[in-house]
Amino acid sequence: MDLGLRDRVYLVTGGSKGLGFATAEALVADGACVVVSSRTAESVRAAVDTLGDNARGLTADNADPSTAQRLLDLAINEFGRVDGALISVGGPPATGPLEATDEQWRDAFESVFLGAIRTARVVADAMTEGAIALVLSTSVKSPIAGLAISNGLRPGLAMWAKQLADEVGPRGMRVVSLLPGSVLTDRMRQLAPDRAAQDRVAASIPLRRMGDPKEFGRVAAFALSPAASYLTGCVIPVDGGSLRAL
Ligand SMILES: NC(=O)c1ccc[n+]([C@@H]2O[C@H](COP(=O)([O-])OP(=O)(O)OC[C@H]3O[C@@H](n4cnc5c(N)ncnc54)[C@H](OP(=O)(O)O)[C@@H]3O)[C@@H](O)[C@H]2O)c1
Repeated sequence: MDLGLRDRVYLVTGGSKGLGFATAEALVADGACVVVSSRTAESVRAAVDTLGDNARGLTADNADPSTAQRLLDLAINEFGRVDGALISVGGPPATGPLEATDEQWRDAFESVFLGAIRTARVVADAMTEGAIALVLSTSVKSPIAGLAISNGLRPGLAMWAKQLADEVGPRGMRVVSLLPGSVLTDRMRQLAPDRAAQDRVAASIPLRRMGDPKEFGRVAAFALSPAASYLTGCVIPVDGGSLRAL
């Protein structure tokens, strides 16, 4: 199947590693151009080197109000257009519901919540058609033990994305939320640091293994591509079947 990605241009925040990088790789593999961003210059450089000529990079924090516009400007200056965005970011700290401090909530709200909304807003304003995908979590549908801030913020973002899909749909723009389960990235290695912990996670997944980031990247690239032209206003779990809800 031709995904129709050739020469299309996507912003990928949190794109130097993990799920963002895997999506950038899948987009570029099918002929798209990407602008990847993250906070660490060295990581951004390494990602762009690996992705090749179709990639540009920006060192920027999603919590910074100027990041979204800077990303868009870079895409327009370098590639002349923008066709969508994958909005990923570092996960919020692991805490219980009564332990998370005000500061942790505020920090996560700035980068995870407001950062996503700002990026989507800027991209939606710049496009007449195209697609926006938010990297959220299965915590949109079911709470994850020990991740109170994710449980608190992600469902709200998913509902905001649903309303955005209503609003921009008439112009031919699509919005989807992606719900990773347990995909073996640096983030997952922090949450399940050793083999025994990873085995315990894997044992609870119907496919009996964690996902490979490339498996997530392929789903995300499809969801962003013109081939997914009737997909919008929905959530797409990429979780090996682990969610206990349809
Ligand atoms: N992996 C999973 O199974 C899983 C499951 C559920 C939800 N999620 C969520 O999916 C998102 C991505 O997860 P991941 O596994 O890809 O994480 P990861 O491996 O830690 O990668 C995160 C990426 O985002 C960048 N980043 C972190 N904070 C940022 C910020 N404030 N602004 C811009 N870039 C930032 C990091 O680079 P720098 O450090 O250079 O900024 C890195 O490139 C997270 O929100 C995570 O909670 C992941």
